[in-house]
This record gives sequence, structure tokens and C-alpha cells, in this order.
Amino acid sequence: MQNSLNIEEIKTILKKYKPEKAYLIKALHDLQNASLNNSLPYEILDEVCKYFNLTKAQVLGVVTYYSMFSIKPRSKYVIRLCKSPVCFVKGTLNILEYLKQKHNILPNSKNNELFALEFTECLGLCNEAPAMQINEKPFTNLNESKIDEIINFYKSNLP
Ligand code: FES
Repeated sequence: MQNSLNIEEIKTILKKYKPEKAYLIKALHDLQNASLNNSLPYEILDEVCKYFNLTKAQVLGVVTYYSMFSIKPRSKYVIRLCKSPVCFVKGTLNILEYLKQKHNILPNSKNNELFALEFTECLGLCNEAPAMQINEKPFTNLNESKIDEIINFYKSNLP
């Protein structure tokens, strides 16, 4: 499947970083964000291995360890709604229901190319619960009007 990045585009992104392992995660984020399917297919990972002089096992180990990375194509924006106790008590289920009813964003559904909805453990933002992330960006103190604002922002700022 076309991932929207050709070899030159992949190399251009990689060259923003020193070829040192400390920069691997930042480079993976950049590449995934630039890909059409919000993913890191093997064509991209092969170039990452060459650039950082790492084995496929080393790079795959990182990509599969962190839930924010995906090898498979997925929605452009992945919403991770916190289901840990503080957020749960402060309204995770209300937010979930609102995302379903108002925005037709359902957990684990494949019917929405723009948004996917997943659950996550504590995001470390408990003092501003309920919280969620969209790709790497955190959102806190969620309520219905804030959800409308966030979802409408992402819908209206498509590349
Ligand atoms: S419990 Fe949700 S951010 Fe900590």
C-alpha cells in the first residue's frame, strides 16, 4: 500500500536527526506523522535501519513496544482515551458516549479514516482528568464542548 513517502522524502526526514539511537523515537514520530496512513510500514523501517545502523529486530522492538507506533495502516488521528481510575471516576464513560453519539467515533472501529478510538492506561495527567491524547498531543479537563472544539479543529485542519 502506498504510504505517501518515497525514499527521498524518508531520507529528508531522517537527515533532520543525527544518526544516533537517542534520536530514533523522534525520527519515528516524524516519519509516522508524515505518512498517509499514520503508520510505519517496512519500506520506511528499512530506511530507518540503514540510517541509524540498527538491525530490523532493534527497530521493530522499539516500534512494537510503544503503542503510539503502528506498522499497519490506520486512521490519521488516533484518540487514546484514558481509562485509568482517576479519569474513569471523572467521566471517561461520558466522553466515550459523547464521541460515539455526537461524532460517530467508536472504539476499535474501522469505519472512520480520520479518527480511531483506543483506550490507554494513565497518561500522567490525573490532576486534569479526564484526559486523552490525539496522536502525541494531550488534551485534559475534557467535557462535551471541549470535545466538539477538539474534533472540529482536527476536521477543519486537514492537510
Ligand atoms: S488516570 Fe487518566 S491521566 Fe491518570
